[in-house]
Amino acid sequence: MNQKGGVGKTTTSVNLAAALAQAQRRVLLVDLDPQGNATMGSGVDKRGLAKTVYHVLLGLNELAGARVHMERGGYDLLPANRELAGAEIELVELAGRETRLKEALERVAEDYDYVLIDCPPSLSLLTVNGLTAAHRVLIPMQCEYYALEGLSDLVGTIKRVRAHLNPQLEIAGLLRTMYDPRNTLSQHVSQQLEQHFGDKVYRTLVPRNVRLAEAPSYGVPAVLWDQASKGAQAYIALAAEILAQGQPA
Ligand SMILES: Nc1ncnc2c1ncn2[C@@H]1O[C@H](COP(=O)(O)OP(=O)(O)O)[C@@H](O)[C@H]1O
Ligand SMILES: [Mg+2]
Repeated sequence: MNQKGGVGKTTTSVNLAAALAQAQRRVLLVDLDPQGNATMGSGVDKRGLAKTVYHVLLGLNELAGARVHMERGGYDLLPANRELAGAEIELVELAGRETRLKEALERVAEDYDYVLIDCPPSLSLLTVNGLTAAHRVLIPMQCEYYALEGLSDLVGTIKRVRAHLNPQLEIAGLLRTMYDPRNTLSQHVSQQLEQHFGDKVYRTLVPRNVRLAEAPSYGVPAVLWDQASKGAQAYIALAAEILAQGQPA
C-alpha cells in the first residue's frame, strides 16, 4: 500500500506472488485497484470478466467462485477491472462496508499461506477494506526527493484502521523500489530511510530494471519472464526475506 501512484505497488504484488509461489507457498493475489494492472500483469484480460473482486465485495459472488488459478505464476488471482470503481459508491450504503474483504477472505483463509492485496493509489474505502483484511502492510517507496511526503497520511490511516477495525495491523516494512545506485539522490534517500526507520526497512533493494517494466506487456511476472534479471532476483530475495520473518500469528 502507498497512496502515491507509480511507486511499484503492483510490480511488487505480482512478482512477490510469483516468487512466494515458486517457494512452494500457496498464494492468493487480490487486485484491489480498478485499474486492474495486477490482473493484466498476471496474464488475465480484465475486459469482460464476469466475476471479480467487485462482485465479492458487494456479496454477489463467493471469493471461491471468483478466483482464477494462474498456471504460469503458480498463484491464485482475484481479478479486478473498472467495475470496481463503482464499489466505492455502492459500498457506502451497505452494512459492514469496511469489513467486506476481510469477511470474504476469512472463508478461504485455510487455502493459503500468503494473501497479497494490491491496493489502489488512494486512501479510499477500497484501501480501508485492504487494511482491515490485512495482518501487515508493505509500503513500496521510490527513493526520490518526495519519498517521505504523504507517509504521515498513510501512517495516520493505518493508525485509524488499527484503532477501529483491525487492532493487529502492523507495518511489515518499507520497500525501496526503482533504486538507482549510480544516482546520489537515490543513495541519499535510501540511507535516510534506513536511519529513520531502522529494521522496518527491508534489506532487499529493488533496482530500476527494464525487465520489471516490460514483463506486464507479456502478461507474465518478471520473476518468470527473465528469472536471471536483476529485478526478478530482487523480488526472489524479498520473498526469502519475508519467509525468514515467518508468518504473523
Ligand atoms: N524496479 C522497477 N524498475 C523499472 N520499472 C519499474 C520498476 N517498478 C515498477 N516499474 C514500472 O513503473 C511503473 C509503475 O509501477 P507500478 O508497479 O504499476 O506502480 P503502482 O502500482 O504503485 O502504481 C510501471 O510502468 C512499472 O512497470
Ligand atoms: Mg498499481
